[in-house]
Amino acid sequence: MSDSTRRTFAAGLTALSSQSVQGANDRVRIGIIGCGGRGRGLWKTFLSQKEVEPVAACDVYEPFLNRAIRDTQSKATPFRDFRHLLDRKDIDAVIVASPDHWHALQTVMACRAGKDVYVEKPLCLMPREGRAMLNAARRHNRIVQVGSQQRSGLHYAHAIELIRGGAIGPVHHITTHWTRNMLPGFRPIEIGTSLPPTLDWDLWLGPAPKVAFDPFRCIYNYRWFKSYSGGQMTNWGAHSLDIARWALGAKAPDAVASFGGRFVLNDGGETPDVQHTIYSFPGCVVSWVSREASAGNTTLLDFHGTKGTMTLTREGFSVAPEIWTGAGANGKTPAMQPMSESGGDLDSLHIDNFLACLKSRQRPNADIEEGHRTAVMCQLGNAAMRIGRVLRWDAEVETVIDDAEANAALHWDYRKPWTLAE
Ligand SMILES: NC(=O)c1ccc[n+]([C@@H]2O[C@H](COP(=O)([O-])OP(=O)(O)OC[C@H]3O[C@@H](n4cnc5c(N)ncnc54)[C@H](O)[C@@H]3O)[C@@H](O)[C@H]2O)c1
Repeated sequence: MSDSTRRTFAAGLTALSSQSVQGANDRVRIGIIGCGGRGRGLWKTFLSQKEVEPVAACDVYEPFLNRAIRDTQSKATPFRDFRHLLDRKDIDAVIVASPDHWHALQTVMACRAGKDVYVEKPLCLMPREGRAMLNAARRHNRIVQVGSQQRSGLHYAHAIELIRGGAIGPVHHITTHWTRNMLPGFRPIEIGTSLPPTLDWDLWLGPAPKVAFDPFRCIYNYRWFKSYSGGQMTNWGAHSLDIARWALGAKAPDAVASFGGRFVLNDGGETPDVQHTIYSFPGCVVSWVSREASAGNTTLLDFHGTKGTMTLTREGFSVAPEIWTGAGANGKTPAMQPMSESGGDLDSLHIDNFLACLKSRQRPNADIEEGHRTAVMCQLGNAAMRIGRVLRWDAEVETVIDDAEANAALHWDYRKPWTLAE
């Protein structure tokens, strides 16, 4: 992003934000569904905005619900069942920060109820869910911002502009990593061994298969079970791969291969603790590595250009110049000057952008369509790993080419009575 474009972008945000706080009619009445770790973080940031009026909060786990209500000095009405929250006519927009297996249903139902939606990443578990969410947003003329907060980061937008403008030369390889050492495994969070009376387990499971209560499947750790999430591929991959796809300006990869497994963590989770996924885009290979068994040297996102390699994180970006060593090159002169830039508060910028779009009715920075396309990228990675072969994707019809088994693996039915009607 050029300096003048950056100033215009930032000024646009500020102008829209200040427009939105003018007058009592510009109040934005908000409800939240899912008041766990992420939900309450978002809730607090929303509540810190002058125009936001908290109306209702919903969680199937009472202690978390009570905390969210307390955050509003008890101004908001508590709900256990999100359907009753959506029935409220005095809510303009909802935050959906429930576990991933709920995002599609709750977003579609919120759109049908006339609410705008801020829904957390990963958008959903299956391509047909993302497509239904996108259709519902468009059909009901709703603003749906996905919680990919990097999309609102000024240094991210500038980095993408530099990459697309050729500042680091053509980029033929993008590497994304998320690594740490979680041995010997994750442990249950918040809830002990037995089902507390303060948790509605059936409504926590919702469209997922009925299973006996397991504290390890519940708060936070649902991420390691296929019925509710997709492991680090959809947890952190949804962030990094979103930026890689944004930089490439591509809808989807042409092909995906992935290898991995839960090799060493012994906590009962299902998703891989080591996974290496490779995506093929025209002229560029994107790789995703996640590892819970050895931290090693972690870098999150590197764009390898012919003139320089850009490392892009939430804290900022830096470019290390390349030195060409082939025929005719002197093997000494850097191909470009080093560059760097620091980052800002991504959540605030992203929420600011959402609130501005509620007024302007413009598409937000992380519009539902972008969330859907990035979610598909993650879903394909996990499907390729489970099936054990290269999957070729047709982004126009959203189908794996000539592979009935893969297409079947990308879709499963909801537990009754839940159905996804746009
Ligand atoms: N954008 C980011 O940087 C970021 C960071 C962390 C988490 N997240 C996303 O936020 C979401 C929530 O993650 P978390 O870490 O807060 O998980 P969490 O387990 O701490 O919180 C989820 C909450 O949803 C509640 N819930 C479950 N079913 C519900 C239902 N039917 N109705 C209402 N509430 C329900 C749970 O009781 C729990 O309180 C996930 O999708 C995660 O990927 C995003």
